[in-house]
Amino acid sequence: MELPDGLKLPAGAQTHNLKSMNAPFASGSNPPDAMVVIPCTMGTMGRIAHGYSEDVLLRAADVTLKEKRKLILVPRETPMSLIHVKNMELLLLAGAIILPANPSFYSGADSVVQIVDTVVARVLDHIGIPNKLAPRWAEEKE
Ligand SMILES: Cc1cc2nc3c(=O)[nH]c(=O)nc-3n(C[C@H](O)[C@H](O)[C@H](O)COP(=O)(O)O)c2cc1C
Repeated sequence: MELPDGLKLPAGAQTHNLKSMNAPFASGSNPPDAMVVIPCTMGTMGRIAHGYSEDVLLRAADVTLKEKRKLILVPRETPMSLIHVKNMELLLLAGAIILPANPSFYSGADSVVQIVDTVVARVLDHIGIPNKLAPRWAEEKE
């Protein structure tokens, strides 16, 4: 509903069947360097926080945490209940990064995509991918 043309992945993006554990990152013997759940619903946040591993997304998050690799969750929900906040507290204590989809406005963005990119840029920063997706605070104009 939010994407009139549906979700289109860029060429080369690999997809994995949610219900099949036949993916390299489903095992701690082959953990990912980093995992990002974007957007991460409150439902998925709760399932990861409590160690549900009934599909490969949840299992991958479990592997990423137990192997001390970087797990970034990008929640979008408002308002938040105590349940949401307690699940986030548990995930922070377990070493996850909670990076809400809160855009920055000092970038003077004038399109939805540019606003969204202020969030994507922070995710890329946290997984160590250099990017110029969004202007940075007090950045010298080139
Ligand atoms: C109209 C509508 C709006 C929703 N908005 C949100 C939202 O903003 N944030 C959120 O975390 N979940 C939202 N949800 C709930 C998720 O879509 C729902 O929990 C879904 O089952 C999550 O599935 P998943 O966690 O397997 O992706 C919404 C559900 C509906 C019906």
